Amino acid sequence: MISPASFSGEAQPLRIAVFASGGGSNFQAIADAIAEGKLHAELKLLVCDKPQAAVVERAAKAGVPAFVFRPKDYPGREAYEEEILRKLREARVELVVLAGYMRILTDVMVQGYWGRMLNIHPSLLPSFPGMHAVRQALDYGVKVTGVTVHIVDGGLDSGPIVAQRAVELREGDTEDSVSERIHRIEHELYPQVVQDIASGKIKLEQLVRQEQ
Ligand code: GRF
Repeated sequence: MISPASFSGEAQPLRIAVFASGGGSNFQAIADAIAEGKLHAELKLLVCDKPQAAVVERAAKAGVPAFVFRPKDYPGREAYEEEILRKLREARVELVVLAGYMRILTDVMVQGYWGRMLNIHPSLLPSFPGMHAVRQALDYGVKVTGVTVHIVDGGLDSGPIVAQRAVELREGDTEDSVSERIHRIEHELYPQVVQDIASGKIKLEQLVRQEQ
C-alpha cells in the first residue's frame, strides 16, 4: 500500500491519469486547463473501459496516451485493475482523477492509490450518492444540489470531501437543465482542485488522516 500523497507544490508538474467511461467533458476541461497553463500537471494516461466512448477520441486529439479495455476480456475486476495499476506505475502517475468512470473499484485500485485518487459526483454528498444523482435531487424536491470532489475510499461516493459547490434548482428545471449547470461548475471546480493539490494548497494527506 502506498501512503497518502503529499504534494508540496514542487516545480515538477503533477503526473495525473484520468479514468472516464463516456463523453469526457471533464477530461477535456482538465486537458484544456493544462494547455492554457492554469493547471500545473501532465496528463500521462486516460483509462477507459468503453472503446466507443467519445473520451477516447478526445484523448487522441489531446495527444494523451490511452489504455482502453473491455472488462469482458478479463476473468474479473481484479485482473483488469492489476493491469491498470501496472500502467499507472509505469507512467509514474501520482494522482488518479475519476471523471465519469462507471465501474465499481476493487481494493486493488482503492489500496493501490489510497489517498491519491479523486472522484467528482453531481450532488452535495452525502446526499444522493450513486447513479442518477440529479434525478434523485429533483425527485426529492431539494432546492439546492451541487457538485462534490472527494477522495475515493472503498464505499459508494463515500470518501473524505475535498471541495463542494452549490447549484440552485429553479422552477421548471429538468434533469437536462440541471445537469448542464452542474457540468459547467464541474469544469471549473475539477481543474481548480487538481491545481490546488499540485500547488500544495490542498493536502490530501491531511484529509485522509482526519477521516481515520
Ligand atoms: C459528471 O457529471 C460527473 O459528476 C459524473 O459523471 C459525469 C461525467 O461527465 N461522475 P463527463 O463524461 O466528464 O462529461
